[in-house]
Amino acid sequence: VRIGEFAWSLLEPSEGNYQFDWLDEAIETLGVAGLRVVLGTPTATPPRWIVDKYPDMLAVDGNGNMRKFGSRRHYCFSHAGYRQECARIVSTLAKRYGSNAHVAAWQTDNEYGCHDTTLSYSQAARAAFQDWLRERYVDEHGAPSIEALNKAWGNVFWSMIYDDFAQIDLPNLTVTEANPAHCLAFRRFSSDQVVRFNRLQVEILRQYSQAPIAHNYMGRTTDFDHFKVGEALDIASWDSYPLGFLVDRIDADKQHKIRFARQGDPDFQAFHHDLYRAVGKGRWWIMEQQPGPVNWASYNPDPLPGMVRLWSWEAFAHGAEAVCYFRWRQAPFAQEQLHAGLLRPDGTDAPGFAEARQVARELREAPEIEQSAAHVALIFDYDADAMWHIQPHGVDRAGKPLSYFRLVFDVYRALRRLGLSIDIVAPTTADFRGYDMVLSPGLVHMSDGVKAALASSSAEVIIGPRAAARDAEFSASSMFIPDIDELSVTVTRLDSFPPHSPIPLEGGGEVQSYREILENQDKVVLKTTGGEPIAVNRGKMTYLAAMLDAEGLRNVLLPVCKRAGLTTIDLPMGVRVRDTKNEQFWFNLDNEEHKIADFTLPPISVTRVRRHPE
Ligand code: GAL
Repeated sequence: VRIGEFAWSLLEPSEGNYQFDWLDEAIETLGVAGLRVVLGTPTATPPRWIVDKYPDMLAVDGNGNMRKFGSRRHYCFSHAGYRQECARIVSTLAKRYGSNAHVAAWQTDNEYGCHDTTLSYSQAARAAFQDWLRERYVDEHGAPSIEALNKAWGNVFWSMIYDDFAQIDLPNLTVTEANPAHCLAFRRFSSDQVVRFNRLQVEILRQYSQAPIAHNYMGRTTDFDHFKVGEALDIASWDSYPLGFLVDRIDADKQHKIRFARQGDPDFQAFHHDLYRAVGKGRWWIMEQQPGPVNWASYNPDPLPGMVRLWSWEAFAHGAEAVCYFRWRQAPFAQEQLHAGLLRPDGTDAPGFAEARQVARELREAPEIEQSAAHVALIFDYDADAMWHIQPHGVDRAGKPLSYFRLVFDVYRALRRLGLSIDIVAPTTADFRGYDMVLSPGLVHMSDGVKAALASSSAEVIIGPRAAARDAEFSASSMFIPDIDELSVTVTRLDSFPPHSPIPLEGGGEVQSYREILENQDKVVLKTTGGEPIAVNRGKMTYLAAMLDAEGLRNVLLPVCKRAGLTTIDLPMGVRVRDTKNEQFWFNLDNEEHKIADFTLPPISVTRVRRHPE
């Protein structure tokens, strides 16, 4: 049971006036009842008196407006005074509860980045950004060099040359778009500020406590590098709200949103399970599982009976050590009064509770789940996401900017529809030994490390579109030649076109919104009906030069899977399978039965079977 994550104004109603009796009692009560406590640090909700003490600690949005007290996450990561207050409350809590036997783990803060709070355009952020730049742009003696920055950013363009780091502003409120290199530096800086803020708390907690430390990340939140935050932590956890996410965070057509309105998207949760397994270096949890309808999406459906159980089992099948539900009892007051809990506001059972109980019972009786590495690795890079965000160069059918997350997610979905299990991996992965297939869609900047790891692996590799198209400073010096030794492909032009005029592919499927025009290509393995190459291959390396629909992706992936020796199967949209070491978990999200391979999968069901030995 996770508690205390927003409790600062109860813990310290005025400066230095600590009130721990209630928390002592709560931890004792829960512990005696046999529950293990995850204690949250309360830094996502600074009390009013801290804001009065430091009025400039509030974050500032991109329009230059200061955000106000009255909800949560109202702080700027760069404010030194606020960081001191955080260090103080965290050490006070750590000293008091660090060796409490009931405190089994810690959670730092709550959902970094939630409500668009990673980037802050405050004065504190401006000063810290300038310091960050001074450390990064240096001359050959390691001294800060404004010339180095001007050169790296290409500031000769539009007369943007600076004389001093102190002149550099944050990249908001410019007349037209700011220099992409400037924007990228600011996003990297903002990500580093989250890493630093988290690390401060972790270092304090570790002085007083042996208990593992987690943070609760979110779905489709990409504006800080979770792998870097995760380096300091023992466990990655995330907050899974399948129905809210389907409404507000998934790019899909109307039919899909209607069909899965009460089940959630068949891939979105699994994608994050696989991502956070990597962020947690193998250890991950669900810190908050939706137990019924939520309050915050544009509309908030009731899950179909059986879905709370299915979501929970899906997490365990992907390696979760724990699934916790949010929340215990529905709160009759304040912002989340329409958010279901396991209990209704009056303390009686809500429908999700019976399913949570069922899962607990089943877990006690069922054999342990043993995880094993997948055969397919998919690289996810937060820095690439930032680059796409800054320079999307086109829009999708919904009119939304082309997105790295969407590209990687589409590839993930296409692989899962072929019945494959996937390890999502960090771009710093140095060794792909053991994988039969490695995919790296959209990796705009490819470090030498990634190139070497891909080149030296014996797996089938798919890269592109936009592979290695920029250097680390967002300059296109290498542009148009994916700088991968094995391939001799040249991208001569980019073509982002109206999203409602897709280009048909030979053999089915279509190019949507974006493609690259190739020259000197290797063997063409996919082309448009007009004969233009869309995917080329040499040896074990395949370059994909476009964004494709599901059918197009399937057509690129299938032959590569075959060469990699992977067994595939075509699954209906509502059915997914996850391989563990010696079992298969089948999930049927459709409200109708499916017959697949040797199995009959009942409507809304989890089917656990021994796997045929490989
Ligand atoms: C999460 C958050 C919780 C609660 C929940 C509602 O984002 O961590 O505190 O707000 O969403 O679904």
